[in-house]
Amino acid sequence: MAENSSYILPVVDSTSVFKEGIFDGRVLFCTGGGSGICREMTEAIMRHGANAVIVGRNLERITKTAKELSDATGRRCSPAQADVRYPKQVQDAVSKTINEFGRIDFVICGAAGNFLAPISQMSENAFRTVIEIDTLGTYHTVKATLPHVRASKGSYIHVSATLHYRGTPYQVHVSAAKAGIDAISAVLAVEEGPHGVRSNVVAPGPIAGTEGMDRLGSKEKDASNRDTGMIPVGRFGHVKDVASAAVFLFSDAAAFISGVVLVVDGGSEHIRPVT
Ligand code: HXC
Repeated sequence: MAENSSYILPVVDSTSVFKEGIFDGRVLFCTGGGSGICREMTEAIMRHGANAVIVGRNLERITKTAKELSDATGRRCSPAQADVRYPKQVQDAVSKTINEFGRIDFVICGAAGNFLAPISQMSENAFRTVIEIDTLGTYHTVKATLPHVRASKGSYIHVSATLHYRGTPYQVHVSAAKAGIDAISAVLAVEEGPHGVRSNVVAPGPIAGTEGMDRLGSKEKDASNRDTGMIPVGRFGHVKDVASAAVFLFSDAAAFISGVVLVVDGGSEHIRPVT
């Protein structure tokens, strides 16, 4: 366990570290951008100059989010309704993006589904549903965007997790799905590197107030009262922590970084109780 300390590393905005205009003229295509971590990543990338398209199933939600992101950043954000399980819908969202913005530089594959269920009680359809949203959805998104990302010498970020590094109970579907996503990213990095395309994974750990944390049983939005003993930096993650990682990976500062999994968890993955 981590020893209690009075010093806690603060949450910062990426704009206090990176220049605001580094993504001027670039276009982001983000699945799952209607809420949570992917919304925050989109906002950060827009604050550095990019326009964006956010993709989701719920048109009302992505329309509202797109307007909020445009208003907050002064850049253009458009919604594109699609269920990533269906390749035609993803392809249509890509076509809408090209018609509106003319290019795609950055792709975040973030659409995901999750719920808690033991394998003994999980139906085949329940398992398949998460694999289809997470893993097949990533495959469909890569297939539909790749010609445009090759053309722009762009970059992918896949949103994974850390729960599949060990046996996380009630998460067999998500664990299998995220392991597949990590593998897709690695192959993409190797195959597409010669075309100037990079591919990396961001693996968030305990990020307060997110859908993932909620669904894993932590309903409390204010994480300040919860035990942080298993988080070496002494606090829960903030969505801005993940957004900053995305800004770095899409930036030219990461030009020689491809095929990595960037774990954003305050060191949690490395902590082991003393026995
Ligand atoms: C057991 C469940 C279940 C539950 C659904 N199912 N919820 N089984 N326990 N709590 C089963 C259903 O019974 C059905 O199987 C099958 O899953 C499909 O369910 P549907 O409701 O028909 O599917 P759909 O409407 O497409 O919903 C997909 C979903 C849903 C994944 C089930 O939760 C969803 O859309 N979520 C999107 C938002 C989300 O989860 N975001 C969080 C991502 S967080 P049967 O056999 O009955 O037909 C994340 C981070 C992980 O991924 C890491 C965290 C640290």
